Amino acid sequence: MKASRRLERIPPYAFAALEQKISAKRKAGVDVISLGIGDPDRPTPPLIVEAMQEAVSEPETHRYPSNRGREDFRGAVRDFYERRFDVTLDPNSEIIPAIGAKEAIFNLNLAFLDPGDYALAADPGYPVYTGGPWLAGGEPVLMALDPELGFTPDLGAIEEDVARRAKLMFLNYPNNPTGAIVPDGFFERVIDFARAYDIVVVHDNAYSEISYDGYRPPSFLATPGATDVGIEVFSLSKGYNMTGWRCAVVVGNAEALEIYWRLKTNVDSGMFEAVQLAAVAALSPDADAEVASMNELYRRRRDLVCDALREIGVDVHPPHGTIYVWAPVPAGFASSVQYCEHVLEQAAVVISPGVIYGPAGEGWFRISLTTPDDRLLEAVKRLGSLA
Ligand SMILES: Cc1ncc(COP(=O)(O)O)c(C=O)c1O
Repeated sequence: MKASRRLERIPPYAFAALEQKISAKRKAGVDVISLGIGDPDRPTPPLIVEAMQEAVSEPETHRYPSNRGREDFRGAVRDFYERRFDVTLDPNSEIIPAIGAKEAIFNLNLAFLDPGDYALAADPGYPVYTGGPWLAGGEPVLMALDPELGFTPDLGAIEEDVARRAKLMFLNYPNNPTGAIVPDGFFERVIDFARAYDIVVVHDNAYSEISYDGYRPPSFLATPGATDVGIEVFSLSKGYNMTGWRCAVVVGNAEALEIYWRLKTNVDSGMFEAVQLAAVAALSPDADAEVASMNELYRRRRDLVCDALREIGVDVHPPHGTIYVWAPVPAGFASSVQYCEHVLEQAAVVISPGVIYGPAGEGWFRISLTTPDDRLLEAVKRLGSLA
């Protein structure tokens, strides 16, 4: 059997060799602790689960949902965006449910790219920013996130002919994998750039509800002019411990959303209505305390990890958002994969090599804070003994 040429174009997974080593170690009885995956370890808050339980017992939720979403779901998203981001959305034209941010990001490529079109993708970045364009028949063009620019791309360095062929731009703040928050003035520059080249900006807002030290991440749409050029994908996965629920929303430019909706009506049948009703509970002010307590938990873990890294001589800046610590590979290692293999060999701890998120991630590694406290403490102890 042969995979399609489109699928073959996706570069091989750089983590594969490391994964084989992890599985060999586990088979040999080694107690491997994974700090690799960004999947919250805590359960979904009870008020959301209870809303789901109630909703799922209502037969009206069992039928095909509309791809536009229920009115009460869209109303809850409108209220949340108003309350949380000071952004006013029209629920009839500026909100569409998505079956996870991953679905939305992938399908936006199918909706907007023709063969030969470019999608500008943050590097390092969430893998679908590159896999999506390839699978849609277009081409991703990497924009290196520059640590000197607060992990933003230098928009001025994008070549004129590339900018002209670009139809989409994928950005994400607070950022996976770097943990960076958006610097002042960056979204304004993105909007000017997108206007000049007629590019649809897709801001992937997967981490806005996870932040520390009093910082409150903004919506891209709160920047004047953003809705003229772009959309935002807001996911409930990380902030509400709902990765398995597949619950996100695409908001912003009405014309772009109409195109996305047309595509979606051809490929899926919308979000289970009981999940929409659970999302209504998640987005209500009643869930704020749950979110705040998760942030406190991650902040504690962040400090634990950063202290341990400093102890072994790693120059780490604690992030103000996301569930990730991003740090430079210590001197003496040829690559991020080599360093992560060393940590696995010596400490039986899995951390992610930065290069798996794109070439600009080389020289860095990522630690996820989604491991239960006792295991994280043990991992941190082992890291400390690496010195
Ligand atoms: C930046 C970013 N966007 C999107 C996603 C996927 O979100 P969802 O679970 O809503 O598909 C992730 C998951 O790791 C992510 O890190």
